[in-house]
Amino acid sequence: MTALSTFDSARICADFPILSREVRPGVPLIYLDSAATSQKPASVIEAMNDYYRRSNANIHRGVHALAEEATALYEGARERVARFINACSTKEVIFTRNATEAINLVAYSWGRANVNAGDAIVITEMEHHSNLVPWQMLAAEKGATLEVIPVTDDGELDLSTFDDILQKRPKLVCLTHMSNVLGTINPVTDIAAKAHAAGALVLVDGAQSVPHLPVDVQTLGADFLAFSGHKMCGPTGIGVLWARQALLEDMPPFLGGGDMIRRVYLREFKANALPHKFEAGTPAIAEGVGLGAAVDYLTGTGMAAVHAHERQIIAYALERLEEVPGVTVYGPKAERKGGVAAFSLAGVHPHDIAQVLDRDGIAVRAGHHCAMPLHDRYQLPATARASFYLYNTMGEVDALIEGLYKVKKMFG
Ligand SMILES: Cc1ncc(COP(=O)(O)O)c(C=O)c1O
Repeated sequence: MTALSTFDSARICADFPILSREVRPGVPLIYLDSAATSQKPASVIEAMNDYYRRSNANIHRGVHALAEEATALYEGARERVARFINACSTKEVIFTRNATEAINLVAYSWGRANVNAGDAIVITEMEHHSNLVPWQMLAAEKGATLEVIPVTDDGELDLSTFDDILQKRPKLVCLTHMSNVLGTINPVTDIAAKAHAAGALVLVDGAQSVPHLPVDVQTLGADFLAFSGHKMCGPTGIGVLWARQALLEDMPPFLGGGDMIRRVYLREFKANALPHKFEAGTPAIAEGVGLGAAVDYLTGTGMAAVHAHERQIIAYALERLEEVPGVTVYGPKAERKGGVAAFSLAGVHPHDIAQVLDRDGIAVRAGHHCAMPLHDRYQLPATARASFYLYNTMGEVDALIEGLYKVKKMFG
């Protein structure tokens, strides 16, 4: 394997101001924690800065110039997001705070209207807590049951159980498109086809897929898709729920308040049209503008190119990690996963790995990565995780490996 990339890494890195900083004097930053949150290009920072300097006003309610300008910027961001995931309409794009809130929106609105005692909801063993806890809460409240698709030793979904699970006629199948620990890219389209044939709807957690690979909601097969702006070069505080329009039309509002109403009387209200029905109160306007700029940046770079670059990086990273005696990497082979490598090093606690790497400016995460049941599955209390994005280089993989040799030396 040659350490080559299809990307002009120097040009990409130059777009991200933080990547030129030193963590400590003389120690440049090597950021390998994008699965937690991505860095932001200057265009996103500037779009938010410009918004506050020039256009700040509340949206949808005013007729003055600034209110119209702010509304156009915010709704323009919605149009960009809709195009980015190939939604049929902006009515299908609901802005939330993050992927977690998008999933909770479905659990509260659709779930409480459609799930009853004895109904089954399907989850998988590789879910982030965001796609587990809302369903546990709903199931407990309604007396519904949770059916679990297990994970194989190789870090893939064990779909041999899926037909039996579907015999129970579940109402909803919830799964991640890409695991934030194993990196596994799940065959969502095939799973959704089977789920639909059994009468279930499908919710896809796209928190790790939408930022890293081309996602087209018209071919994906999902009924609901949740993702976060901050993992895709955008700001924190804004996320997206995409859902098929017919479903959203039938769902009751989630939060009540301003903006989500068409008419309010003292004792009742009429809900607003989509997408506003699900956006109560003043939204994260500047963050919406920032997300729009992030989408422009990713679109300009090309999602196929982003994905291809990460495939090369992860293939190289896995090859190099396997060279290090005592390292175990979890999850499938490079061709079946995205740019995430969770690993352990025999005899060294993941927190110690992360701390020693940090001395060389290498930022990796250590812990359960909000996937405790998945760690239980492999009887691991924690793992170290290096996660890659469009701005990472093969040289940074080499630095990680050198750092791991230092860790080994230090811990004998
Ligand atoms: C797979 C997956 N789902 C959901 C989330 C939750 O994202 P957020 O905290 O932005 O809501 C994350 C965040 O790490 C994730 O990796």
